Amino acid sequence: MPIDYSQIKTPCYVLDEQLLRNNLQLIKSVRDRAGIEIIMAFKAFSMWSAFPIVREYIPKATASSVFEARLAFEEMGSKAHTYSPAYKTEDFKEIMAMSSHITFNSLSQFNHFKQNIKEHTDKISVGLRINPQFSDVETDLYNPCAPGSRLGIIASQLPEQLPEEIEGLHFHTLCESSSYDLELTLKAIEERFANHLTQVKWINMGGGHLMTRKGYDTEHLIQLLKRFKEKWNLHIILEPGSAFAWETGDLVSSVVDIVENNGIKTAILDVSFTAHMPDCLEMPYQPRVRNSEQGVIEGKYHYRLGGNSCLAGDYMEFWSFNKELQIGDQLIFEDMIHYTMVKTTMFNGVPHPAIAIWDNKKGLNVVKEFGYDDYKGRLS
Ligand SMILES: Cc1ncc(COP(=O)(O)O)c(C=O)c1O
Repeated sequence: MPIDYSQIKTPCYVLDEQLLRNNLQLIKSVRDRAGIEIIMAFKAFSMWSAFPIVREYIPKATASSVFEARLAFEEMGSKAHTYSPAYKTEDFKEIMAMSSHITFNSLSQFNHFKQNIKEHTDKISVGLRINPQFSDVETDLYNPCAPGSRLGIIASQLPEQLPEEIEGLHFHTLCESSSYDLELTLKAIEERFANHLTQVKWINMGGGHLMTRKGYDTEHLIQLLKRFKEKWNLHIILEPGSAFAWETGDLVSSVVDIVENNGIKTAILDVSFTAHMPDCLEMPYQPRVRNSEQGVIEGKYHYRLGGNSCLAGDYMEFWSFNKELQIGDQLIFEDMIHYTMVKTTMFNGVPHPAIAIWDNKKGLNVVKEFGYDDYKGRLS
């Protein structure tokens, strides 16, 4: 049944439970068939009201900060695989209490904290993030292997013999990538780190594996992972984020005003690109707008879509509609669940969209609404 938005108060992010379950089912089956571990990256999706659903399929998560590690512990009910570009001494005790695995971005951070880990009561498996200096991600903002990158240790800086405490290696080089991109990356890893692969028990291949995208060759991924696992005798971990929430829901907005300048009509909405869907400006990524076509289409009504912040560039270029837009019309941005809620701000005091879950049988459940107190409470 299609989601019924007729009664919804906008703006609102709406997660479709069945679509999330479909992704989870696929991810779980890749995990089981390849004989590997897959955990969920909170950085893409940390809408914790949905974690009870996630946990039915995938019980663990990766954290990149002390807060994400705590969320894993509290809401996923399991200790996190934690990696951060740099841990602070005052946070580390809590990080250790909430993590089953801790990966360091540099040897200096490892040396700084190795004694703490040794003295910690529960066993923590320790890894190092490596930088294979290979990635086919074209947008520099999302390329961890761009020259001079601060992320991961390059091969020439890693000692031939790893410290005895190191049990794993971690790399993250992909972004919305295919299994064929992973294959090229694994070749680069084998060329540069073959000696190190023989010294560890696990390898974490980071995120960016967009296995739930239509056309992704999951069969190829499974065979690739099986071969790598056998060849190096390693436990493999993948930590995708986007793949979990890919195409699982919308951001529903309304037209508040329509203005015209130099022949350009802009529909001003009750959402903001910079505050609620920043990838549209950063990547730049263009979400689909339901019942409309991208660009200026002859014979149709075309509009820029404007955000409700004062940032001059808070808009998305033209979309064409069959009918003239009217104040109060709903505009639905599709695939708006990953890297949206996790990145929102209250810049300009713009109201934060509510968060809802759609269930085919039960209908719409608004799980969180935001108000003035949330805005005021962020600062002092
Ligand atoms: C270390 C690490 N792991 C996992 C991810 C998740 O990647 P994605 O959401 O593209 O799958 C990221 C994303 O930036 C990352 O930096």
